[in-house]
Amino acid sequence: MDIIRNCREMQLRAESIRQEGRRIAFVPTMGYLHEGHLNLMREAKKLADELVVSIFVNPTQFGPGEDYEKYPRDFERDEALAKQEGVDIIFYPSVDDMYPPGYQTYVTVEEVTRNLCGMSRPVHFRGVATVCTKLFNIVKPHTAVFGKKDYQQLVTIRRMTADLNMDMEIVGVDITRESDGIAMSSRNAYLKQEEREAALSLSRGLKIAKKLYDDGERGASVIIRAVREYIESHEGTDIDYVKICDAETLEDVETLERESVIALAVRVGLPRLIDNHVFGEPLIIP
Ligand code: PAJ
Repeated sequence: MDIIRNCREMQLRAESIRQEGRRIAFVPTMGYLHEGHLNLMREAKKLADELVVSIFVNPTQFGPGEDYEKYPRDFERDEALAKQEGVDIIFYPSVDDMYPPGYQTYVTVEEVTRNLCGMSRPVHFRGVATVCTKLFNIVKPHTAVFGKKDYQQLVTIRRMTADLNMDMEIVGVDITRESDGIAMSSRNAYLKQEEREAALSLSRGLKIAKKLYDDGERGASVIIRAVREYIESHEGTDIDYVKICDAETLEDVETLERESVIALAVRVGLPRLIDNHVFGEPLIIP
């Protein structure tokens, strides 16, 4: 496994892999790898000849007062995990190499980034779209793999690559959960033991939503109210949003007719946790 820290070097390497007619699969991450990331790598490995994983805590997707400085980092551990998964190249650039002095170009995806996390994190998706565009130009993947855990991010990247004619396939992978049902996240590392019970209310809330839907409920406000009440009954939870949206446009829906997604963001102690469920898809939660 090679570690490449320089953008230009990565670009030359990607070009030579392509010249040999080999396919590149790419998994962008911010590191502090967990089973969710590793599952993305396993899927990606099946899709190409060379697997590239990037580890870069991207400053432009964090707003003022968010956890950029505190975001957990452990490169040595990440390196060992990636190696075990058969990753061929880790791309591990510095902030200065990605955003040198004078940097001033950003990619904005409009409608799909306005709702949900875009409401409380106004610069977030601009940062994500920008860094992914840069990473795609550097790593030159044929396929890039993203998790459905960050559902709005996946929709945004699909929109952006289609709108800007980026010549690659975007693959979405199901949410990986801990055995108790909590969606895996690097930010779970901040959860204190006594906060885990409150954190469980997100996935269990989704289960309540699924049950209502499966029993025939189609009114978004009825489902939202039940989920909110359940989450709020747990001490230490502070809801940012509970919304039901069209799965593609991410606009709020009143009635669940087309494919819809319920998405949650809840602060539990320090971390702000997110989770979601696409109605009609499986949801395996104990
Ligand atoms: P990060 O939070 O490190 O996540 C990297 C990838 O792993 C994303 O595609 C995310 O959706 C996926 N992922 C995280 N937890 C998951 C889980 N429990 N199940 C399935 N997939 C999971 O998302 C980012 O980094 C950044 O925004 C990035 C795309 C790298 C741009 O900076």
